[in-house]
Amino acid sequence: MKNLIVANWKMNPNSQKQAEEIFSGIKKGVENTTTETVVCPPFIYLPLLKGLPLGAQNIFFLGGSALTTGISGAMLKDLGVKYVIIGHSESRKYLKETDEIVNNKIKETLKFGLKPIFCIGETAEERDAGKKNEVLERQIKKGLEGVEDLESLNVAYEPIWAIGTGNNCSVEETKESIDFIRKFIPKKTRVLYGGSVKSANSADYIKNAKADGLLVGGASLDAEEFVKIVKSAE
Ligand code: PGA
Repeated sequence: MKNLIVANWKMNPNSQKQAEEIFSGIKKGVENTTTETVVCPPFIYLPLLKGLPLGAQNIFFLGGSALTTGISGAMLKDLGVKYVIIGHSESRKYLKETDEIVNNKIKETLKFGLKPIFCIGETAEERDAGKKNEVLERQIKKGLEGVEDLESLNVAYEPIWAIGTGNNCSVEETKESIDFIRKFIPKKTRVLYGGSVKSANSADYIKNAKADGLLVGGASLDAEEFVKIVKSAE
């Protein structure tokens, strides 16, 4: 299976023009690569961007019903979106997403033939207290409870303390966590690493930590830097 490199733009950029510029820089730069490159912009930019697979940063699971602010699986599918980021630590923290909500969102994603990028990861406190594996196991088991079709699942291991801090997780520790995560999911499922990835460390995660891809936040807003990351995974 191809490596999967995902740009997670979060709540950026501030204008359609900038979104189109970054996207076209990425599109041009990855033209001759074999890695699967996916861009996940804010919802409102999804219809503007064409020529690379797109992912949404969230999904809501009361499809077709009364949910003010909701974006359904049907809407995403209609736009041609392929992937959905689910359970990102920022959504767990600020949008109060619980494991149960994450589980419902994974089911909703699969119902529409979209591919989940299911994010898990521990806080610094949980890691320091020696609870990392316990947290990862709980997040995986609860997030996937009752999910039968795991064919299109992708898991992203994102230690929360490594996100947006420049303090990326060491390759050794990442490999240990990825090996642990693999015990609970099918062999074919891709496991990505995310947390302060840049072109200077990206190849190491693929080659030495045996990640099947990367989830890139800050560095994905710089087309040139992001293209270097994609190429490092070839
Ligand atoms: P970062 O974010 O690359 O800016 O650390 C990664 C993420 O939150 O997915």
